[in-house]
Amino acid sequence: MKDLFSKRSAFAINPIREEDTAAEEMRKSGIDVIKLNTGDPAVYMPTPDYITDAYIDALKHKKTSYSRAEGVPELLDAVAKRYKRLYNVDFGQNSVITTQGLSEAISMIDSALINDGEFAFLFRPYYPAYMTNLRLAGGDAVFGRYYESDNWNTKVEDVKQTLKAAKGKKIKYMMITNPNNPTGTVLTRNVLKELVDIANEHDLLLISDEIYDEIVFNGASFTSLCQIAKGMPHMVLNGISKNFDATGFRVGFMIIPEEDEVSKALRQKFSDYARIRLSSNTPAEYACVEALNNVEQHGIEIKKMVGEIQDRINHASKLLDENPFLNYAKPNGAFYIFPKIDLDRLDFKDDREFVRALLNEEHVQLTRGSGFGEPSHIRIVSLPPKEILGEAVKRVNRFCQKHAK
Ligand SMILES: Cc1ncc(COP(=O)(O)O)c(C=O)c1O
Repeated sequence: MKDLFSKRSAFAINPIREEDTAAEEMRKSGIDVIKLNTGDPAVYMPTPDYITDAYIDALKHKKTSYSRAEGVPELLDAVAKRYKRLYNVDFGQNSVITTQGLSEAISMIDSALINDGEFAFLFRPYYPAYMTNLRLAGGDAVFGRYYESDNWNTKVEDVKQTLKAAKGKKIKYMMITNPNNPTGTVLTRNVLKELVDIANEHDLLLISDEIYDEIVFNGASFTSLCQIAKGMPHMVLNGISKNFDATGFRVGFMIIPEEDEVSKALRQKFSDYARIRLSSNTPAEYACVEALNNVEQHGIEIKKMVGEIQDRINHASKLLDENPFLNYAKPNGAFYIFPKIDLDRLDFKDDREFVRALLNEEHVQLTRGSGFGEPSHIRIVSLPPKEILGEAVKRVNRFCQKHAK
């Protein structure tokens, strides 16, 4: 069949899973591959019992039909309550739409907002699905920067300059990731405020992906966009995958808290999108009601989880400090380390070659920085227990020594 696939389908690539087939083959042949490519806490820290029990309960009670397209009302209510509890913002159930993971929210946003040749303002390094979905919708990015030299913070003046230089381009929205994947940076309240002002000035819809909002450590303090963008249309994205350690449930939340005309139109549009796919995962939605409402149990679980993550990141960092070929800025959120590779001193052309050779020679699977729009870097998922993570970093260190020029 000639020309079967659309031209856009060429963009359907996820760099995070790029080496999955090769790693799988290795595993099948009995090789012990350490997979540090997907940010999946549930692999190493099982989803808390109170949440899986609620899932089982939903199944036992045959809550297996389609739900309302936007999500079961109890869950929408639980999301609104969580935001009141954590951030003291008030919105009702109708401000929330449940998605099949935050991933679905990203694809809905690009499909609903982007025409051919239009733009989104993203910051590099970015979470890869933003770029993939944007391109699949026929759009492209205008890039701001998170600067490594500045602990991966952005410079507000630069954002202004970039927008000035992009005059004439139709930019539909600005996406921020806070805390950030892949850098682990938590944006300060001041920077957020300035971004809100810029978005206002340029009439840009500001969207904040806050899927790691409770995974913050090393003394950092998190501010949600909805706390400071009051009175202007904006969107906050979140989900059950990371804070609640339930990646496989596939439940995300799209929150449009304001009551202005743009916000109302966005809610209607995304409701229409939700209806196309009928419903998200109903029993998982019911389990999420318990996950969000059982504040006491969640408090215990998240404290334990963040403590473990911090401990594991610190352990990996110490070992990485022994490696003269990799330099990194310390993360204070999420669960990634994003080192720069000193390619001048190693016999690799680029980060892709580095990652492939590492998998082949040392059986450690990482993700190349270029997949996040940041070449010459690697992303290390720092979730496994210290023995496994430590072993992986030791292999990386040995590998670098072996390939020194
Ligand atoms: C920043 C960010 N956004 C969205 C997602 C996707 O989340 P979900 O599992 O809810 O689809 C991830 C997953 O790693 C992420 O890191």
